[in-house]
Amino acid sequence: ALPARVKVVEVGPRDGLQNEQSIVPTAVKIGLIDMLSHTGLPVIEATSFVSPRWVPQMADHTEVMQGIKKLPGVSYPVLTPNLKGFQAAVAAGAKEVSIFGAASELFTKKNINCSIEESLERFSEVMSAARAASIPVRGYVSCVLGCPYEGKISAAKVAEVSKKMYSMGCYEISLGDTIGIGTPGSMREMLTAVMKEVPVGALAVHCHDTYGQALANILVALQMGVSVVDASVAGLGGCPYAKGASGNVATEDLVYMLNGLGIHTGVDLQKLMDTGTFICNALNRRTNSKVSQASCRL
Ligand code: HMG
Ligand code: MG
Repeated sequence: ALPARVKVVEVGPRDGLQNEQSIVPTAVKIGLIDMLSHTGLPVIEATSFVSPRWVPQMADHTEVMQGIKKLPGVSYPVLTPNLKGFQAAVAAGAKEVSIFGAASELFTKKNINCSIEESLERFSEVMSAARAASIPVRGYVSCVLGCPYEGKISAAKVAEVSKKMYSMGCYEISLGDTIGIGTPGSMREMLTAVMKEVPVGALAVHCHDTYGQALANILVALQMGVSVVDASVAGLGGCPYAKGASGNVATEDLVYMLNGLGIHTGVDLQKLMDTGTFICNALNRRTNSKVSQASCRL
């Protein structure tokens, strides 16, 4: 049975913008988040407290966090790879953070410059500090359906890393198909393994749409009981450490599908499409949302 409601986690300002080659003005990032805040989205991932040498686009994290108008009832989590990032995030006013690991050794090395084992040690430092500050932590696991460096990743490995991050105290585990290579078949196999270790109510899916499979994969996850889905307005994005990977499923397309299934999201599709138009104009780019493309022609 499908869930009656789905929590849509908007990752455009972070996952969407982190991959942009030229630096997006801070005012545009703030404008994007403020528009998203009025669409009814419950969660808007705002920025990353990562090294500006690794991801220059996110160097204005503090200005973004302090410039946005935070609406009550909306949360604005940020990525924190280590204690240093966590402390900077809290100082900038973050009330929720995400740690991000992977089910692939090589991807972990390329993305956060350590082994999976070392990453879990760093994460447990963040978890302790977060617990002391009563800050909820979300955990990402990347490469759940394949890795740009290792190729196939076993469902057992994804389940193992997910279980470790959940046991550490993450309230939610977001399963990332970083390179959008999965299919409904591999999604089903992976989720079957992960659901033996982590309750389905604590799982989210994070599907990049590189191979055009994202909506199909999400539908399978919904059928298996997942009720939290990450998406990026206008389908912006990718990961700087996964070359060639395209953006997440477009939030507009996800909401259109959920509306069609009679699943409640609380998101206003028209306001979301207007926000997509705003950011595409600012970046001088065509939207990756099929729904927005269709609505322009109709
Ligand atoms: P490192 O170079 O190994 O760090 O990077 P280090 O601990 O050796 O420190 C080196 C320098 O970096 C030091 O400065 C530190 O202070 C500084 P120095 O003394 O040389 O002047 N430093 C920091 N500065 C700012 N913020 C920090 C920080 N930590 C250390 N937090 C590090 C390790 C993790 C920092 C680096 O590899 C990094 O920033 N990686 C981030 C990569 C990234 O953001 N990737 C994209 C997000 S993940 C993603 O997109 C996938 C996802 O969407 C899910 C999916 O699709 O699958 C989530
Ligand atoms: Mg991603």
